[in-house]
Amino acid sequence: MTYNFDQIIDRSSSNSVKYDIRQAYFGNKNVIPLWVADMDFATPECIRKAILKRANHEIYGYSIKPDSYFTSIQNWLKTQHNWSIPKTSIDFSPGVVPGLVFSILALTNPGDKIIVQTPVYFPFFISIEGNNREMLVNPLKEKNGYYEMDFEDLKSKIDSRTKMILLSSPHNPVGRVWKKEELEELIEICVKNDIIIASDEIHADLVFKPHKHIPLASLSEKAKQQTITFMAPSKTFNMAGLSSSFVIIENEEYHKKYRALVESYHLTNGNLFGTVGTEAAYSHGAKWLSQMLSYTEKNIDFVSDYFAKHIPQIFFYKPEGTYLLWINFKALKMTDAQLKEFLVHRAEIGLNQGIVFGENGTGYMRMNVACPRSLLEKALNQLKAAIDRLDLQLS
Ligand SMILES: Cc1ncc(COP(=O)(O)O)c(C=O)c1O
Repeated sequence: MTYNFDQIIDRSSSNSVKYDIRQAYFGNKNVIPLWVADMDFATPECIRKAILKRANHEIYGYSIKPDSYFTSIQNWLKTQHNWSIPKTSIDFSPGVVPGLVFSILALTNPGDKIIVQTPVYFPFFISIEGNNREMLVNPLKEKNGYYEMDFEDLKSKIDSRTKMILLSSPHNPVGRVWKKEELEELIEICVKNDIIIASDEIHADLVFKPHKHIPLASLSEKAKQQTITFMAPSKTFNMAGLSSSFVIIENEEYHKKYRALVESYHLTNGNLFGTVGTEAAYSHGAKWLSQMLSYTEKNIDFVSDYFAKHIPQIFFYKPEGTYLLWINFKALKMTDAQLKEFLVHRAEIGLNQGIVFGENGTGYMRMNVACPRSLLEKALNQLKAAIDRLDLQLS
């Protein structure tokens, strides 16, 4: 079956964050929304069918997660990522970010330091500081748009209060898919200093060949014991509204503490439809995913070619994973506030401001390209026209 990713689906008035809060967030309800990380592609039919089937049952009472749910996760991780995990290591997380917060609360103490590698997915910051922990910033090193971890900086900053790192793997927003050697070096540092790795692998399935996502905990026995891993079908299959994430913890002590915290909030059941959707996605979604990735990669190339041809002042390093572009706008010589104003009110496109991802995000914007190409083309034409007008004003 060939899926149609060119189809424009009207998402306005569907209570979509990406579409329906444009006025409140940008102050312009007409921006083309290329921000929030969900896709404008139809959620795969296998998921919608499974949910409709369950929705047709007359009762939506308290529900358990059946064995088939756990098996679908185990099979997916084995076939997609060559990672075998026991059923008992899989546990509930109402969302990846709430799960990260639970790990922080369960496994660290107020005043402890938690590492982030900026620029990085910004809810990490509030998860740490909002819970009275201290953020230890280990900025990524950038060279011609390509980012790497800065291990020397990390080693120089770690002290006895440093207890955890929130790892983004693949990395949002810079699109790196960490290599085995990079992950191994990180593990070595963390094991040596007894730092727990909370590995956010929500983008694990969104990787372009020849790159390959490696679940950090799959690398060695040491890695397995040091790591708690967060995953979800939400980004992969465009079902973020279903609350479908889960955590994998093979270290028994960490698992016990995490579980106790989740139980203390009485949060162990989750959403009935999230369970159904997850099982359907992992059981039947592989073909859709492969076609979606191929379409999205062409979108990335489309933007890259467009920039090179029409707006060579702005550019990005092709992401190895994720459907997010980390675009360098520094040549426009605007402050972050001016750039935001320009994009929202002159180009009428809604992107995420780079500065929000950390101080070293200044001059960048994040663009989500998981949408029909025609929408992307319209956005790029608007951007080009706005930049042309700017050049005219300056000349
Ligand atoms: C790196 C990363 N982690 C977590 C999330 C959100 O996860 P959730 O909605 O399950 O909290 C996102 C969404 O964009 C993300 O990019």
